[in-house]
Amino acid sequence: MRRLVIVSNRVPNPRERGPTAGGLAVALRDAIARRETLWFGWSGATAEATATEPAISRHGQLTLATLDLGREDYRRYYQGFANATLWPTLHYRLGLATFDRQDFTGYCSVNAAFAVALAPLLRADDLVWVHDFHLFALGAELRAGGAKQRLGFFLHVPFPPRALFCALPRGAELLRDLAAYDVIGVQTTEDAENLAAALAAEGLPDAAARVAAFPIGIDGEGFASLAQREATKKEAVRFRESLAGRGLVIGVDRLDYTKGLPQRFCGYGQLLKRFPEHRSKVTYLQVTPVSRGDVAQYRALRRELDEWVGRINGHYAEPDWVPLRYMTRAVKRPVLAGFMRGARAGLVTPLRDGMNLVAKEYVAAQDPADPGVLVLSTGAGAARELDGAVLVNPLDPDEIAEGLDQALTMPKDERLDRWGRMNALVRDGNARAWSKGYLAALEG
Ligand code: G6P
Repeated sequence: MRRLVIVSNRVPNPRERGPTAGGLAVALRDAIARRETLWFGWSGATAEATATEPAISRHGQLTLATLDLGREDYRRYYQGFANATLWPTLHYRLGLATFDRQDFTGYCSVNAAFAVALAPLLRADDLVWVHDFHLFALGAELRAGGAKQRLGFFLHVPFPPRALFCALPRGAELLRDLAAYDVIGVQTTEDAENLAAALAAEGLPDAAARVAAFPIGIDGEGFASLAQREATKKEAVRFRESLAGRGLVIGVDRLDYTKGLPQRFCGYGQLLKRFPEHRSKVTYLQVTPVSRGDVAQYRALRRELDEWVGRINGHYAEPDWVPLRYMTRAVKRPVLAGFMRGARAGLVTPLRDGMNLVAKEYVAAQDPADPGVLVLSTGAGAARELDGAVLVNPLDPDEIAEGLDQALTMPKDERLDRWGRMNALVRDGNARAWSKGYLAALEG
């Protein structure tokens, strides 16, 4: 079997294995277990200048090779072009995007530095799989250095309609860079159509033909048994007792403006206003670990959310009831799995999201005898697959309120029917099927 080379901005922490590992590490676990793998990327640390020699560590079949980023490169590439320009643009939020030519230069030079450091580690028959929007230009840089290996790219986030993407200065250059990849994977057919149209309009019909959708999944069975186990442990029991018999609504998202959190909080406020029968009967737990806190738009959002929480709790709380419990600290995945199992509704309302694996985790975590209801945004890639969810427009707080009311009052028969359909999908379209399907395409 040919060696797999994974390249991503973030590289998994080898100490965080099993249930505590991050999303991509979980999604790729099966692929890594089957073959010798080299995983290359940023170390997560900054230094005076970007390293030229990767630090290498071996963990059985898996070798990690990581580079420290120079502080200026971190600012231009990661905080700047990747997270303040590309991220909002790819999520249809052109109005939030800033553009600075030096950031773009920094982005290109980090992609080039990755290619230069990776090239000597490559073997002739490696399969190279590059992940996400930080590394659009890596394939072209590797090709410029003479790489002949099969090169694959997978975009985890949405790809917007061509006119929107091409409003981005240097957008055309990024499309030309993408053409260096042999397989260009995205999450949904809508993303695939958008990206193929953008490539074709740029005069790259061959690259357009190499675009395909590979919807990412989770380890549904693994997450289901994790949730079942964790629901009996002390954190989950303590939490359940604190609810005093009230129904639980749960939301879990990075603190990001793509997640639609102000609209979601407003929607929960509308639920309490328009459907007063839920007051004192329901508790909403929103877990939102701070993310990219050094990017300006994220700091502003955090202040806005603090205000929303204060407003809702100030207005509706009773001496013995807090309607909205809001945490910006991270909660461990296993503990969350146990919490999800006990939730009557999973509230997942991003404005735009490539896939959204929390939606799939919520489904997998449910008790098959008495499942809760997923309230899901039409803007999430997962909405293309999870047709048993209550679908809501994430921009409309009233629709969120109505969706929540529907979820909280849904008869058991209907809950069982909707959940059964979704659960079959989550189990079959799992992480293993995703990586297998992609790698088969990459092997050509
Ligand atoms: C999204 C992106 C990933 C990224 C993650 C966390 O899921 O698609 O590429 O790693 O967010 O963001 P961060 O900036 O902390 O890596």
